Amino acid sequence: MPKKLSRNTHENEVTDESVYLSRRSLLKGFGGSILGYHSPLLYSDKSSSTGNEFGSELHQMLFQKIKSRLKEDAIKLAESTPFNYASSYNNFYEFGSGKSDPKKNAKKFITDPWEVSVQGECDGAGTYHLEDLVRPHLLEERIYRLRCVEAWSMVIPWVGLPLLSLLKRFKPRSNAKYVKFETLYDPIQMPGQKSLFSAIEYPYVEALRMDEATNELSFLALGMYGKILPNQNGAPIRLVVPWKYGFKSIKSIVKIEFVEERPVTTWMKSNPREYGFYSNVNPSVDHPRWSQATERRLPSSIFSPNIRPTEMFNGYGDEVAYLYRGMDLKKFY
Ligand code: MTE
Repeated sequence: MPKKLSRNTHENEVTDESVYLSRRSLLKGFGGSILGYHSPLLYSDKSSSTGNEFGSELHQMLFQKIKSRLKEDAIKLAESTPFNYASSYNNFYEFGSGKSDPKKNAKKFITDPWEVSVQGECDGAGTYHLEDLVRPHLLEERIYRLRCVEAWSMVIPWVGLPLLSLLKRFKPRSNAKYVKFETLYDPIQMPGQKSLFSAIEYPYVEALRMDEATNELSFLALGMYGKILPNQNGAPIRLVVPWKYGFKSIKSIVKIEFVEERPVTTWMKSNPREYGFYSNVNPSVDHPRWSQATERRLPSSIFSPNIRPTEMFNGYGDEVAYLYRGMDLKKFY
């Protein structure tokens, strides 16, 4: 739940309106709207004219960053996938491999109480109640594109906290090179885990390199569309790594482990030729059985397929490309 302003916040701690307005005048010149969305950040203060406000490199960079932030917000309004879609077209093999199985089979999934065990190369190992993990954090909304390896995509407004802000509380040691996550293993509640025909082994395991995990985009979601996460979307806590194929975004996490060696993750183990450790969204590296150059943005239908080109790193290259500098991404897929 988002924190409220503390009751004893003093009046003089609240930013004065004139200070706020003069800050906004920095944005002079970037008037108008994106996709019809009028944001307060677009406010243009006609009374202040300081000449070449966007001339410096810093201002150019801030301008671009703010513009792309606004684009993200505009996507929320113009393109976000309807909630009913995002919560009924799911991949959660523990509850069945059909897209409509998770919603149907996860109805009674018990997510309270919920504990997360933290292990490995850190000074804060232990077993924590989820409420103790979440309580000190101010939750925030992140509108991210989700690109599945199966070549469909959605835009989802998640609510949660940056992965980094949780991980640092466990004080990882310098020899922690990767962070590994595990989903609950409970075949009584999760019928897919009993299936003799399952394509994967359980518990579901995912992992990130430490620098990926601590990148600002890596996010732990507890909610979406302003609601508590539906069971089929990975309640009560799941990972969201928007520049990687959706299967890296592991659901219903019960274990976080800091490790030195690169873990073998679930889909890599199931078919290493088709699924690599990195699994960065990459339109120029095809899946052995289909192209990754385009995607079907949901909702889509035969009459309106809504096909669009897939972007490198799912469009998040500015924030993450540095992580892979010098790496051959065809080899490290
Ligand atoms: N996590 C677990 N534990 N089990 C799964 O089957 N499927 C992954 C990922 N996380 C999966 C999982 C895949 S393939 C995708 S595309 C996303 O969850 C889908 O998330 P969504 O159902 O919320 O859209």
